[in-house]
Amino acid sequence: MLAIGIDIGGTKIAGALVDEDGAILAETRVPSPASSATLIEDSVVAMVQQLAAGHEVAGVGVAAAGFIDAAQSTVYYAPNLSWRNEPFEAKLTARLGLPVVIENDANAAGWAEFRFGAGRLVSDMVVLTIGTGVGGAIVTGDALFRGGFGVGAEIGHMRVVPGGLPCGCGQRGCIEQYASGRALLRYANELADAGGIGQTLAERRAAAPLDGAVLSELIMAEDGGALAALRQLGGWIGQASASLGAILDPQIFVIGGGVAQSGELLLDPIRQAYIEHIPARGYHPVPEFTIAELVNDAGVVGAADLARISAERRLRGV
Ligand code: BGC
Ligand code: NA
Ligand code: ZN
Repeated sequence: MLAIGIDIGGTKIAGALVDEDGAILAETRVPSPASSATLIEDSVVAMVQQLAAGHEVAGVGVAAAGFIDAAQSTVYYAPNLSWRNEPFEAKLTARLGLPVVIENDANAAGWAEFRFGAGRLVSDMVVLTIGTGVGGAIVTGDALFRGGFGVGAEIGHMRVVPGGLPCGCGQRGCIEQYASGRALLRYANELADAGGIGQTLAERRAAAPLDGAVLSELIMAEDGGALAALRQLGGWIGQASASLGAILDPQIFVIGGGVAQSGELLLDPIRQAYIEHIPARGYHPVPEFTIAELVNDAGVVGAADLARISAERRLRGV
């Protein structure tokens, strides 16, 4: 059975026709139409119609960056987008005539890693996606954890600094403010303004505020200042993972999202901070830390797989 997965991001909307082994048969992407809910809806409808043409499709899974209800139909709140109580599923089902499930973007990506990627050999895993926001996915006992109201696994809004930096969720001190791509840029700019560790970082900063492209270029070149910024971020992720490890006891932590491109340079400080902060240190089994395997395709593949599973359940009447 085929299903369609759509991943709505801040800069682009990606869509794919996916089979039951997670293989992509067709793929398309368009720039994200700013933050207008109606324009996003129009883009999704056009994309699904294009991908579905000539195929029998079981359902559509839509990955969105926000808090989604247990019925997987309404986006209650999106910290970095304008959605508030957006009844996305009803609108899309009416226009598409296909069953639609809405899924949290990190949950969708995490599910893809569990089924077809870095987590396929374990029963329990935690996925952290590090991009504009910090997303989380939790798999326990081979099942995706959504919580009682559907809005669980919002790891990005775990409070790590009481009274800390304001967050898009309306609270303060969430780890998203200390471990997102934006936080990484802040660390780099701060380090450069303070005279810098790496000469290059300070020089580039003197020309213009550092952006994501410059920073990833400097990280890949292993510039001292850029790596110091990355270590700051990794330290936060590692500490938070130690708390999550104490609660969830996963065999593996998978790090995804744009910042994960830095690979081992990011995993090293994460592992160090984890080992330093885990309770029963030295006696506590140490999970594996690894980078996501499906990278850019995780969202569409996971959303499609979850839509297919939900369609199969409906057919079996459960
Ligand atoms: C949102 C999550 C989302 C994450 C990554 C967070 O700000 O609350 O729902 O998964 O960003 O996009
Ligand atoms: Na999540
Ligand atoms: Zn928050």
